[in-house]
Amino acid sequence: MDKQIRQSLFEQASAWVKEAGGRIRERMNQPFAIDTKSSPNDLVTEIDKDVEKFFAKNIRDKYPEHQLFGEEGFGDDIKTLDGTVWIVDPIDGTMNFVHQKRNFAISVGIYNNGIGEIGIIYDVMGDQLYTAKKGEGAYKNNEQLHPLNKEQTLDKSILAVNAFWALKNRRVAEEGIHRLVEKVRGTRSFGSAALEFAYVAEGILDGYLTMSLMPWDIAAGVVLLEEVGGITTQADGQPVNMLDKTTVLACNKQIHQEIIRDYVELKV
Ligand code: IPD
Ligand code: CA
Ligand code: CA
Repeated sequence: MDKQIRQSLFEQASAWVKEAGGRIRERMNQPFAIDTKSSPNDLVTEIDKDVEKFFAKNIRDKYPEHQLFGEEGFGDDIKTLDGTVWIVDPIDGTMNFVHQKRNFAISVGIYNNGIGEIGIIYDVMGDQLYTAKKGEGAYKNNEQLHPLNKEQTLDKSILAVNAFWALKNRRVAEEGIHRLVEKVRGTRSFGSAALEFAYVAEGILDGYLTMSLMPWDIAAGVVLLEEVGGITTQADGQPVNMLDKTTVLACNKQIHQEIIRDYVELKV
């Protein structure tokens, strides 16, 4: 993508993300409807939907040739990443949004013919804006993020992993996760995949391992992480699928292979 086109898209997308964040902050202390989706713990609110509608309307008005791939279904029916596709999670971390009123983010990745050009993750309550443009570095509130530590070792790493994957489950052998939890310095779970990617890019987490995410959870984070020299793959090292559900290992390159080789045994 032409650098100037990317720049103007980036400025527009960032402005919309900040505006959407402001709207969320204004509405979140008034009553709002909460529904469930695939299970009683899979929450969605009317604010998630309204934020996605806000992006859908803005994108269609200003960039009618672009497509929107969004979680709540107000975008297009995406089968390929041909052309320019906005991959949007209007609120990533809805459970945190509902229960904690913090630790949630707006995530926007912009892909052109399958290439991640722009990544924006906005921690709405912390007012922290993580941004990246392909080949131009990653930033947090306009301050450039440093390349990830080239000396990182697993025993001195903090890994984001949800306790669920250490229980018996149908995707990954839990014994390997137990050994991994013992091996690393510490584990964390923030409940927002987008923020977990942002923290890996910032170097305050060294890796994020999880077995089931969707493209809107990771699209922005993948771009951000690549700009600081990090890597995102599936949990077996294969490239992530940006059109469907995927396992994810996003981390510092120094510990990536070791986690896959010595600790992750997928069941399917
Ligand atoms: C969820 C969050 C959560 C992750 C889930 C996602 P949502 O997104 O990112 O951290 O573990 O798999 O679905 O539903 O809050 O947008
Ligand atoms: Ca999400
Ligand atoms: Ca969401």
